[in-house]
Amino acid sequence: DQSRQIAQTLSEFRLTTEQLLEVKKRMKTEIQNGLSKSTQDSATVKMLPTFVRSTPDGTENGDFLALDLGGTNFRVLMVKIRSGKRRTVEMHNKIYAIPLEVMQGTGEELFDHIVQCISDFLDYMGMKNARLPLGFTFSFPCRQTSLDAGILVTWTKGFKATDCEGEDVVGLLREAIKRREEFDLDVVAIVNDTVGTMMTCAYEEPTCEIGLIAGTGSNACYMEEMRNIEMIEGDEGRMCVNMEWGAFGDNGCLDDIRTEYDRSVDDFSLNPGKQRYEKMCSGMYLGEIVRNILIDLTKKGFLFRGQISETLKTRGIFETKYLSQIESDRLALLQVRSILQHLGLDSTCDDSIIVKEVCGAVSRRAAQLCGAGMAAVVDKIRENRGLDHLNITVGVDGTLYKLHPHFSRIMHQTVDELAPQCNVNFLLSEDGSGKGAALITAVGCRLRVEQN
Ligand code: BG6
Ligand code: GLC
Repeated sequence: DQSRQIAQTLSEFRLTTEQLLEVKKRMKTEIQNGLSKSTQDSATVKMLPTFVRSTPDGTENGDFLALDLGGTNFRVLMVKIRSGKRRTVEMHNKIYAIPLEVMQGTGEELFDHIVQCISDFLDYMGMKNARLPLGFTFSFPCRQTSLDAGILVTWTKGFKATDCEGEDVVGLLREAIKRREEFDLDVVAIVNDTVGTMMTCAYEEPTCEIGLIAGTGSNACYMEEMRNIEMIEGDEGRMCVNMEWGAFGDNGCLDDIRTEYDRSVDDFSLNPGKQRYEKMCSGMYLGEIVRNILIDLTKKGFLFRGQISETLKTRGIFETKYLSQIESDRLALLQVRSILQHLGLDSTCDDSIIVKEVCGAVSRRAAQLCGAGMAAVVDKIRENRGLDHLNITVGVDGTLYKLHPHFSRIMHQTVDELAPQCNVNFLLSEDGSGKGAALITAVGCRLRVEQN
C-alpha cells in the first residue's frame, strides 16, 4: 500500500506523449502571441528582439571585455578575437561572488559591486587605461531598442535588487562606471545568455541558429524572420529573438499539468505566479520540487521514519549538483545515503531508494517539458522556411544540461519524438556566453564604424 501511494504521487509527474504534444502546441500559440502586434502586450512568452541580425561570419576581430551576470557564476572576461585564415579566440576570465545581500539589495549597490569587480579584473590584466569595448551578458528579460539599450522587464531567478526594473540596464552600468571615476569603458552590447550561447556555437558551426539554456533558469532564442517580428520595422532577413520562455504558463495555460508541489514552490519563491514553466524545468527549482514531495511523503509516514527534520525544512538544500549525484547510475545506494547524510538527512536504505525515485520523476518531467518547448521552436523555424524537413543545430549551455546524468538524453529524445520532421543537433557551448557577447560586440563596433 505504501509503495502504491508513493507511485500515485509520482504518477502526477509522468506525462503522456499526448500531453507533451499539447504542451508543444500551447508553446506554439504563445510564440505567435508574443510576435503579433495585437497580442504582444499581454503575451506571456515575450519574444524580445535582440538586434542581433546574423550569426558570426569569421571576420570579427579585436579585444573586448565581457561581463556575464545571471547564472551560477558572475564573470569578467577579456576576449581576444583574431579573424583571418587562422581564426583564434583567446580568453581570460575571473569569477566573482555576488553576495545574497547584493543580489537582493539596491540597484546602486549591485552595479557598484559589478564595477568594483571590473576594476579588480582590469588591475589583474594591467589594462586600466584602455577604453575597451564591452559586451554585457545579462541573463534576464530586457526590452531592447538597439544593441546597446535594454530595459529590464522583471528580475527572475534569485535576483531582486531595487530600482532596476523598468530601467535601461546599460545606463545603470554606465552610471556606476562614472560614479567610480577610475576608468572608462565603451558599453557596446547587452546580450542574453541564450544569445551569447547561440553565437558562441555558431562561430564553430554555421547551422546553429538556436540557443538554449538549461541551468539555474530555462530559456531559448532563435533566428526569426523579420517579417514575423511585428514590433520591428522591416521585412528583410532575420533577427535573433530572446523568447523568455520561462514565463510560459503564467496565464494559466499549464495549470492542468502543474502539481500541488509546483504550486507550493511557486508560492514561496521570490516571484510568485511568474516564470511557471521555468519553475518546472530549471535547476534553481527542481530541488525545491523534490524537497516538497519529500516533506509530503514524510508527513504521510513513508520516509525518514515520519520525522520532518530542520534540514528538510530548509529551502534550497537540493542544488543541481546534488540531484545530479543522487541520480547517477554509477552510484551505489550506500553512496546516495552518504550524499543525503552530507545534506543532513538521516536515511535508511529504503529511504534512499525512494529519494532517488522522486528525483528521477521530477528531472524526467523537466527534460520532457524542455524538449516539448524546443520541439515547438524547431517546427516553427521549419514552417517559416516552408520545408518538409529541417536540419538545425542548437547551441546549449547550463549546469542542468551539463551536470545531470539523464536530462540531456531525455530532452533530445523528446525533441526527436515530438518534432519528427526536424533533425536537431545539440552542440554544447564550451566557453559560456561571454565569448558570444564579445562576438556580438565585435559586430557592433564594426557596424558603428561603417555607419559613421
Ligand atoms: C553560460 C553563461 O552560458 O551558461 C552563464 O556563461 C549562463 O552566464 C549559464 O547564465 C547558464 O548556466 P547556469 O547553470 O550557470 O545558470
Ligand atoms: C531566466 C531569465 C532569462 C535567462 C534564463 C537562463 O529565465 O529570465 O533571461 O536566459 O533565466 O539563464
